[in-house]
Amino acid sequence: MRASTRSAPNRLDEVRASLLARPRHWLVTGCAGFIGSNLLESLLLLDQRVTGLDNFSTGFAANLDEVKNSVGSRRWNNFRLVQGDLREPADCRQAMVAVQCVLHQAALGSVPRSLEDPLATHENNVTGFLNMLVAARDARVDSFVYAASSAVYGDHPGLPKVEDQVGKPLSPYAASKSFNETYASVFATCYGLKTVGLRYFNVFGKRQDPQGAYAAVIPRWIAAMAAGRRIAINGDGETSRDFSYVENAVQANLLATLAPAAAWDQVYNVAVGDNTTLNALFLMLREVLAQHDVHYELAPEFRPLRSGDVRHSHADLAKSRRMLGYQPSHTLRQGLDSTMPWYLARNVRLHKAQPATSLHPRSLT
Ligand SMILES: NC(=O)c1ccc[n+]([C@@H]2O[C@H](COP(=O)([O-])OP(=O)(O)OC[C@H]3O[C@@H](n4cnc5c(N)ncnc54)[C@H](O)[C@@H]3O)[C@@H](O)[C@H]2O)c1
Repeated sequence: MRASTRSAPNRLDEVRASLLARPRHWLVTGCAGFIGSNLLESLLLLDQRVTGLDNFSTGFAANLDEVKNSVGSRRWNNFRLVQGDLREPADCRQAMVAVQCVLHQAALGSVPRSLEDPLATHENNVTGFLNMLVAARDARVDSFVYAASSAVYGDHPGLPKVEDQVGKPLSPYAASKSFNETYASVFATCYGLKTVGLRYFNVFGKRQDPQGAYAAVIPRWIAAMAAGRRIAINGDGETSRDFSYVENAVQANLLATLAPAAAWDQVYNVAVGDNTTLNALFLMLREVLAQHDVHYELAPEFRPLRSGDVRHSHADLAKSRRMLGYQPSHTLRQGLDSTMPWYLARNVRLHKAQPATSLHPRSLT
């Protein structure tokens, strides 16, 4: 199902046709993670050659297995994995061999993680990023598209968020993503590297990890609700986000890679262009789960706001539409409808591992 925001002519169709006619060799860093594995799958389905770089710190071999099953063995043969680390310049160089288009996704995500360990965030997200830029420059790649973040809007009060109006970063993670933009622009200016930054807003979809202290809200809540566990809302639930299905991020990466020169050395919002409160998200998830016969009746527990979190996030998409031809293909609801079967299939396994006392009687079994 397509969002009403989609209209002709469709730049994405042109880009896909161009890639099919003339396949490229891509590097996807973070290929075993959530967004990276979705990019990998889409590229292999378009008959592209892909090298992946990952150190499996937050990614999973199971994600790669799933991509392999989805694309089939013929296309899987177009994939080469470099198990390595961004923090090692030699690994970055090795991953860059014969690559034309870079999609740099690998980083340590999560605001709370960065507050607990700012050095690790800096080493992976800033030093690692710089290593990638140097390797890309030396390999003379055609393009370097990277995962930026809406976190850079920080304390700027403006809504919706416009690319050139950023505030003070509110966490080491936000600072690391802000440094990325600065370095990318410096490499564009000093070395002529074709860089494009994609400021993802809260991305969700299949293969996003629902477990662990740093899990994002949508997978965490789906896993908890499907297992009949009580969910927690940080704050009063009126915090809002522009939740965006992963297909929108995949689209933006393809468009950015083949964007005209006028679009290079810039950053773009990637989201739906809408905002939803946590309270509304909770009700929507209940509805989507009910369509799968999972009836959740527990009230959420309200906890204090987390430090480092911005209160509202809502993307202005005018620049992405104008310069990249970006048109989000999925609304939040459409994305949740597409995502839920994957989580429920996975959650049956998670659920079986739960102690019986933590299960809601009407949850999935
Ligand atoms: N998911 C979101 O909502 C969101 C929002 C804004 C920005 N981003 C950015 O998008 C990118 C992808 O995020 P994700 O949600 O897919 O995260 P993820 O944790 O699922 O994937 C990150 C991948 O990078 C790998 N990695 C981390 N450090 C590495 C290193 N030093 N060397 C090699 N590999 C390393 C991990 O093992 C993992 O496979 C990140 O840069 C993140 O900051 C994500």
